[in-house]
Amino acid sequence: MMTKNSVSTFIDAKHKNEKITMLTAYDYSMAKLIDESGVEGILVGDSLGMVCLGYKDTLAVTMEDMIHHIKAVSRAAHSALVVGDMPFMSYQTSVYDAVKNAGRIVQEGSAGAVKLEGGASVYEKVKAIVNAQIPVMGHIGLTPQSVNMFGGFKVQGKDEIKARNIVEDAKKLEDAGVFSIVLEGIPYKLAKIVTESVSVPTIGIGAGKYCDGQILVYQDMLGLFSDLKPKFVKSYGNAGEVVKKAFKDYISEVKSGIFPDEKYSFKVDDRVLEKLYGGQ
Ligand code: KIV
Repeated sequence: MMTKNSVSTFIDAKHKNEKITMLTAYDYSMAKLIDESGVEGILVGDSLGMVCLGYKDTLAVTMEDMIHHIKAVSRAAHSALVVGDMPFMSYQTSVYDAVKNAGRIVQEGSAGAVKLEGGASVYEKVKAIVNAQIPVMGHIGLTPQSVNMFGGFKVQGKDEIKARNIVEDAKKLEDAGVFSIVLEGIPYKLAKIVTESVSVPTIGIGAGKYCDGQILVYQDMLGLFSDLKPKFVKSYGNAGEVVKKAFKDYISEVKSGIFPDEKYSFKVDDRVLEKLYGGQ
């Protein structure tokens, strides 16, 4: 019997100084493989917009898109905590929208927690969602929904004021009640300071080794997405090439008549066919 990971798994791991692992997933079959591999958490990220839907950034992703994919992942995740991302404009507009949409992610998507981007600016929203008994994962640093404010996907926290703001944002999120915080695209020594400044675990992506845990977008680490190649992504296998070779082999076997042979075909008693066609 598998034990289900929860927000307590994350908090306990920080206390025990054990690293937390997360990956993204967007559909049932990959989520099943990821869940069976033993990660503690699966994020259905709004990176969905880029790696599954082909948008140039995450801004066009809707609540309907997210719920559709969160449902699929939740059906597969028997062990990992499923965190559903709140898409752009699903929480920025008001505290009411934030709680309402977080509630949809849990109620319709069966996620165990939600994630949203921002620090002090989302304090009231995070507090209200947590008051509604929905666990929240924060996300600061290179927050992709702010791409237009940043002028591109750029590492954040490189000057004193911005670095200080990131530390303050993390403390504010902790105060609002988050159970963990994603640190994305910040210098690793700043991530260390943030990690030591809060009691909740930090989950890094492009934030170095001192975070309490790590997350990667699975298409990035498997070589399945070639539009962007961030410096922080380590390749754990070139599944893209493996998959392309399988597709090419299939095309060639179909064209040459090798596939499908008898092994992959169904049989019927010849007498049935004789009766059908009256011995024609
Ligand atoms: O959308 C996403 O996949 C994310 C991770 C990169 C943390 O927010």
